[in-house]
Amino acid sequence: MKPLLGISGLRVRYRSGVSEVEALRGIDLSLGAGERVAVIGESGSGKSSLALAVAGLLPREATGEGIIRWPGLAEPPRNGKDVGFVFQDPGGTLDPVMSVGAQVAEVAEVNLGLSRRRAVALAVELFERVRLPGALLKSYPHQLSGGQRQRVGIAAAIAAGPALLIADEPTSALDTIVQAEIVRLIDRLVRETGMALLIVSHDIALAATVADRIVVLKDGAVVEAGETAEIVARPKADYTRALLAACLTLDGSAGVLEGRA
Ligand SMILES: Nc1ncnc2c1ncn2[C@@H]1O[C@H](COP(=O)(O)OP(=O)(O)OP(=O)(O)O)[C@@H](O)[C@H]1O
Ligand SMILES: [Mg+2]
Repeated sequence: MKPLLGISGLRVRYRSGVSEVEALRGIDLSLGAGERVAVIGESGSGKSSLALAVAGLLPREATGEGIIRWPGLAEPPRNGKDVGFVFQDPGGTLDPVMSVGAQVAEVAEVNLGLSRRRAVALAVELFERVRLPGALLKSYPHQLSGGQRQRVGIAAAIAAGPALLIADEPTSALDTIVQAEIVRLIDRLVRETGMALLIVSHDIALAATVADRIVVLKDGAVVEAGETAEIVARPKADYTRALLAACLTLDGSAGVLEGRA
């Protein structure tokens, strides 16, 4: 598989006042073109820091060290164009006073240099691809459900045809049924377009349904990484075993994981 992204020795620290938190302690990771990788781990393990560092979106209080290479791209990646980012809470990133159709069109206009008319036509097409009724193009974010807003967030993230889609807990603000729909949507879009996926989750069962490979983070370090089926069937680290045990169903079966084990 052609490499898209190579990370070596990535460290991220946050400074606030006199205190300092080491969020990532030397991460090595590679991602092939079209490959789907899930980053899992408990709260505070550094998942979002990794996603943000890859997208070049770390906040000002963060300092990063290490190397992120993009051998699969001709130039350094441009956010929005080469890398699409889906946030946990799409409400927070959408403009409340602009229609959702116009927001998706704007992403296409800015990143692809399209005319307004062509960008609007692309937004119509993107709404179809994320299975949103066209009637919602003129709606404002507050008029949509959480699941619909996340579909808008996904439409905006894929508008410019990125080589990599990063999704940071894209379903954790949604109820269970909508979660499954959004995961299926991401899975379908990634397969259709051939873009690579870096999906962040604390839920190993969810990760197993979409990822070729799973990377397990704990305290800012990789404790285990490998093929999804292998990690699910034969976890090496106690920590991974604990994450797996946490998603066993009450009757003792592995629920969603069964199909992949
Ligand atoms: N902006 C920030 N300022 C200071 N510390 C931060 C900041 N962002 C993250 N951290 C700290 O860095 C560590 C890793 O945080 P990160 O958000 O990457 O974890 P996470 O695995 O995404 O957690 P969650 O599952 O809760 O989203 C944590 O100790 C967190 O408190
Ligand atoms: Mg996070």
